[in-house]
Amino acid sequence: MCGIVCYIGPREAAPILLEGLKRLEYRGYDSAGLAVADGENTCLVKEVGKVSRLEEKAREAGPRGTMGIAHTRWATHGKPSVANAHPQTGENDKIFLVHNGIIENYLVLKEELKKEGHTFKSETDTEVLVHLIEEYYEGDLAAAVKKVLGVVRGTFGIALFHRDSPDRIVLARRGSPLILGIGKGEFLAASDVNALIRHTNQVIHLKDNELAVLNRHDYAISDFQDRLVVRETETVEWGADAADKKGYEHFMLKEIFEQPDAVENALRGRLLEGEGVSRLGGLEGVLDRLKSMERIHFVSCGSSYYAGLLARYVFEKITGFSVEVEYASEFRYRNLRLDEKTAVLAISQSGETADTLAAIREAKRKGALCLGLVNVVGSTIAKETEAGVYNHAGPEIGVASTKVFLSQCVVLTLMALLVGRYQRLSLTEGLFITRALKKLSGQLRRVLESAPRIEEIARRYARYDNYLYIGRLYNFPIAMEGALKLKEISYIHAEGYAAGEMKHGPISLIDPEFPTVAVVPRDSTYDKMINNIQEIKAREGKVVAVAVEEDEEIAGHVDEVIPVPRSIDILQPLINTIPLQLFAYYVARERGCDIDKPRNLAKSVTVE
Ligand code: AGP
Repeated sequence: MCGIVCYIGPREAAPILLEGLKRLEYRGYDSAGLAVADGENTCLVKEVGKVSRLEEKAREAGPRGTMGIAHTRWATHGKPSVANAHPQTGENDKIFLVHNGIIENYLVLKEELKKEGHTFKSETDTEVLVHLIEEYYEGDLAAAVKKVLGVVRGTFGIALFHRDSPDRIVLARRGSPLILGIGKGEFLAASDVNALIRHTNQVIHLKDNELAVLNRHDYAISDFQDRLVVRETETVEWGADAADKKGYEHFMLKEIFEQPDAVENALRGRLLEGEGVSRLGGLEGVLDRLKSMERIHFVSCGSSYYAGLLARYVFEKITGFSVEVEYASEFRYRNLRLDEKTAVLAISQSGETADTLAAIREAKRKGALCLGLVNVVGSTIAKETEAGVYNHAGPEIGVASTKVFLSQCVVLTLMALLVGRYQRLSLTEGLFITRALKKLSGQLRRVLESAPRIEEIARRYARYDNYLYIGRLYNFPIAMEGALKLKEISYIHAEGYAAGEMKHGPISLIDPEFPTVAVVPRDSTYDKMINNIQEIKAREGKVVAVAVEEDEEIAGHVDEVIPVPRSIDILQPLINTIPLQLFAYYVARERGCDIDKPRNLAKSVTVE
């Protein structure tokens, strides 16, 4: 959830580190810091708040040197403060270390170190790590790190250097991503490709229990047993401009508008139109096994969970699988039947979500076929699953997921289509779906044209502090996702509900100050949705409806209508998603919220 950037080479390190931190700020932004070494002196600068504040402080401190490490923090142990910010230093300020993750046994270790006379300056688990390394250090930093990592429990991606050897950065990973950037005559490292891509597109992903040493002229990777690791560099396929705002006020808005492209990218080369089926290269190796499965479980968190919830309806409609959807954080507590007849699909934008990763490891242990649907190429979930599919949606920087959520829904539909065509789905039905998929991006572009109308509604509705979102069938997960978007970025309390559940509790909340957003497509649930709306209106609740353009009746029942193009039932929720994203965005903007960096949230949740 925090971010790491490191640099060693011929250039001044501080500007590169600060620029890299800014690109990682979406991962955590309650404090930041850097340490830069020039061979003789090391300058440490830390500040609470955003990277821009660190930048100001660094301007005054003027760190000079061509090697350094930097960090942006999302607090886990200890409140955001200068003392708790990274880099953390040890007893004699010789070792400088940044850390992503959690050291689970840090309290026990801290007590032991205190008994030996160590004093601590921060409340962090990270500082314990530095003190321990100091204890084990006998002139070889990498050797000390290896020893310490045998003692600590938990997850980490760390980068550190010792004042006495300022030409060497040591990195190690277990459970928290670290990527080396191999530049021309220089080396970088970061927890996210975004921080490297301006300088090089040649990267190496460290694996768990690996350590790397970056020198001025080369680098070496080894495992914790000192065996040398030789790994080819990978080329990142997108350029630095993909992670820029391109004139949009926020990344979230840019990413909402990128959705037609994200859908096209998700479909590219994957539709066999004449056969009414999809082709997913990443699943080819396991296709025979997959076809013969009885069950599929979707495991994921947040928006990725809602994508799974929608996919459950789609898979049940067009495949023969029995489908379970579970929050990854709950998966391991259930006693599920996970055997060779079970496939488990991890759905994750980042591919690094700790709970989802833990769920996959549990499923693997029990013998299930583990698959991944991931946006970030080379991420841990991508590497730890047997097979899978990439979204190819490009980097998503806004903390609130938009384009990747939609892309997940598309790819999950493609998966259902693939399996379904080997099971119960006829050619005609397959063709029906492939044709509708082909039209989707054009329809999404049309929805985006109604942004000014949605903005105008949102401005009038931004004053309410509570919201109910309702939908049925395919649009129930979309109501949940719409509510999540609103609460994430505007801090408004919003509940997503299956409309049928309204009378079983939430209707008691309805009054003139408690509006409802209703997703009302012209499908088999339409009449029941209208009944729900009338029940709300009878209690003087305001209703904003997302409905298809052909629906002339809806305006007579609700206060506001956002019309959208019509698709087939299983794809209609994808179209309906965009107005809900835009509504949340414009409400949050009207309320002056920090949309791309909402409070308390981080883009990638790498702790359980
Ligand atoms: C979505 O808007 C959220 N920021 C969050 O719920 C996210 O979807 C969740 O943390 C899962 O992340 P992942 O897809 O990277 O695994």
